[in-house]
Amino acid sequence: MRLLEGRRVLLGVTGGIAVYKSAQLVRELKKEGAEVKVIMTPFARKFVGELTFETLSGNKVFSNWSDEPLAHINLARWAEVFLIAPCTVNTLSKLALGIGDNLLTTTALAYNGKLLIAPAANTVMYKNPAVQENLKKLKDRGVIVIEPEWGVLACEEEGEGKLASEDRLLDWVCYALKDKPLKGKRVLITCGATREYIDPVRFISNDSSGEMGFSLARVARWLGAEVKVIAGFTTAKEPPEVYIERVKTAEDMLNAVLKEFENADVVIMNSAVADYRPKEFKDKKIKKKETLTLELVKTPDILEDLGRRKKGQFLVGFALETDNILQNAKEKLRRKNLDMIVANPSSAMGSENYKGWIIAENSEEEIPPTTKLKASQKILRKVAEMLSEG
Ligand code: CTP
Repeated sequence: MRLLEGRRVLLGVTGGIAVYKSAQLVRELKKEGAEVKVIMTPFARKFVGELTFETLSGNKVFSNWSDEPLAHINLARWAEVFLIAPCTVNTLSKLALGIGDNLLTTTALAYNGKLLIAPAANTVMYKNPAVQENLKKLKDRGVIVIEPEWGVLACEEEGEGKLASEDRLLDWVCYALKDKPLKGKRVLITCGATREYIDPVRFISNDSSGEMGFSLARVARWLGAEVKVIAGFTTAKEPPEVYIERVKTAEDMLNAVLKEFENADVVIMNSAVADYRPKEFKDKKIKKKETLTLELVKTPDILEDLGRRKKGQFLVGFALETDNILQNAKEKLRRKNLDMIVANPSSAMGSENYKGWIIAENSEEEIPPTTKLKASQKILRKVAEMLSEG
């Protein structure tokens, strides 16, 4: 199942050099299963031809009323989400003032669903006080402004004004289409592997990719939560629009988590914390010998510590087991004083797919084999449901 299966996305394209990037965005939206219709302003058509968008979206491109007098109404009614990318400062200012002088701006007037705009402009133009005032007006009205990025712009200046990346745009479309059962909740997620150093270049660690924790972070954001991630070492792609703090060892992770714990509503410990560290850290590289004996000592059990400290926080743990999965997970739920534990066989580690169980004091739900994003949705919806039940 793809992320946007069957969802109706209206893409507005205005006249800036970043138009060529929107063509690629249409492809990505289609790959995720969305149906896409495109409206172009007359100026956008000077940058990239209609045929490009028509071919990529599989739908005719709209740019005027010539063969559909009610195009603005029909498109506004059709769309589940309306994204304008790139949105020039001219168009965003017209939107703020309620001006409808072409099919795109008129459709925006006729539309009362989720509107997202991704501005792209020269830095000075973007920072112009009139433009910033108009952006504020739009934000105050509930329009989602996908902030541009810093970089070298087409005008060869360096600054803020580059169109948001495809990944961010796609993520915001997913965000706009979800209900918000976690609105107002602060969710702290840990993920990835810790490293316990033997000497400056060697360490004890594990195979965790961070994929599950990053998926949980994306979904928690889509469901309205304010998300922070504390990550060890990861190989998975970072989630867009989420603040990630990096740590190295179990000890570092414990300290980082404790700083945030008091202010969190939900804490999900998904990280694969190394259970042992070398008793002694050698600050010079250990020279090769016939044999080497390492004495290991236990690292702090972060989750168990949180379980002892918790005052109203909803605590979720993960249990990676090779045998007696459910029995061992239930024992960890009780021992660590958790509200929920997600149990999975060891095959989940480093894999793109997930299968497991969501276990709470009085419930047990299977997660049949699926993607980590889908599994995350199931887990976080269950968290939201349990929070709402009190
Ligand atoms: N965990 C933790 N600190 C540790 C070890 C684990 O916070 N030092 C957390 C993990 O993030 C996970 C949960 O505890 O949410 C269970 O981790 P797991 O490795 O399955 O279990 P352990 O408690 O380490 O027990 P065992 O290795 O004996 O199965």
